Amino acid sequence: MAQQADTTAMRRAVELAARGLGATSPNPVVGCVITDASGHRVGEGWHQRAGGPHAEVHALREAGVLARGGTAYVTLEPCNHTGRTGPCAQALIEAGISRVVYAVGDPNPQATGGADTLRAAGTEVSQGLLADEAETVNIAWLTSVRRGRPFVRWKYAATLDGRIAAADGTSRWISSAESRADVHRLRAEADAVVVGSGTARADDPHLAVRDVEGAVQPLRVVVDTEASAVKPGARILDDAAPTLIAIAEDAEGPLTTAAGAVTAEVVRLPRAERGLSVPALLDALHARGVRSVLLEGGPTLAGAFIAAGAVDEVVGYLAPVLLGAGPAALADAGISTITDALRLDVTETAHIGSDLRITATLKGA
Ligand SMILES: NC(=O)c1ccc[n+]([C@@H]2O[C@H](COP(=O)([O-])OP(=O)(O)OC[C@H]3O[C@@H](n4cnc5c(N)ncnc54)[C@H](OP(=O)(O)O)[C@@H]3O)[C@@H](O)[C@H]2O)c1
Repeated sequence: MAQQADTTAMRRAVELAARGLGATSPNPVVGCVITDASGHRVGEGWHQRAGGPHAEVHALREAGVLARGGTAYVTLEPCNHTGRTGPCAQALIEAGISRVVYAVGDPNPQATGGADTLRAAGTEVSQGLLADEAETVNIAWLTSVRRGRPFVRWKYAATLDGRIAAADGTSRWISSAESRADVHRLRAEADAVVVGSGTARADDPHLAVRDVEGAVQPLRVVVDTEASAVKPGARILDDAAPTLIAIAEDAEGPLTTAAGAVTAEVVRLPRAERGLSVPALLDALHARGVRSVLLEGGPTLAGAFIAAGAVDEVVGYLAPVLLGAGPAALADAGISTITDALRLDVTETAHIGSDLRITATLKGA
């Protein structure tokens, strides 16, 4: 059945797009499948890195002359502009593709219009097939275009009674080895991993990706208002991944000792009522090409992000462990009455080792 074949090809395109996660910013992840005039798959491609060929170009190269009269399945509307590479709509026309099926329209004002260009050239075009799946795989980039700030995924590991550390501050390891490995996958998908100064002090975290094949290391970020939490020798200052320390514009902290002899970059940001301005931090990251942030806590900084309306997705690893005392997963987020409680939509639950991983989006996010 033609419809089933369309769905199968687009599902494959979504799978291909996912291969680019964590490696394409500031560009989207895109997958493309090309079938010949009789419906046989003759080309596949995905956008592998910013500045490299787009998914359509990879797939057209593989298809060669067999693309003529064929169909292109693309997860995102083919682009219409010349950036570091030429417009994909034109490449599809020149290859003689007679039908283009794409899942999600391009919200980027600079790149949109590819569908119109294709139609004007006589190509049959349709939109919307597996749009939800294609949107999900590309949610970081789509969110960043729509909101003008990076997509923020807040991740935490808590006991079943909702605590992220014991009363004495110790927290290693609440979750299972499998969950911790899963977090490395989330880091690999992110452009930046962010923690607060409290976590930097308590845990001396490393925050780089381990054991994920082909991973591009994210930017490691510490939000350290007074430039006092990241000390020489901190694990985050090694050369496993780039590091950025966000401090206040007027901070007089021991910057030279914190960042002097190391490769860490420092950005000065305006203060907020408490700590640094979250929107200013996200603006600074966005300006550096960061399109997705993995916020790894702790609870105080997560509270500030929630209060600023700057969390798009929550990933909680719930471990079958009880503590009875110790800090909760989320500190003050500006919510004081039950009618103001943030209600989330659960999008996935999964067993990871002995833990339960719950993924949820903020309603209306
Ligand atoms: N289980 C988990 O998933 C997990 C994850 C992370 C952390 N933890 C645990 O959490 C504990 C640390 O949490 P924490 O809440 O004390 O620290 P945190 O959230 O990592 O950092 C809080 C600090 O960030 C700074 N900050 C900068 N801008 C801010 C803003 N806009 N709003 C609020 N704070 C801002 C503030 O200090 P300055 O302004 O002075 O810089 C603030 O005290 C540790 O015990 C750690 O082990 C657990």
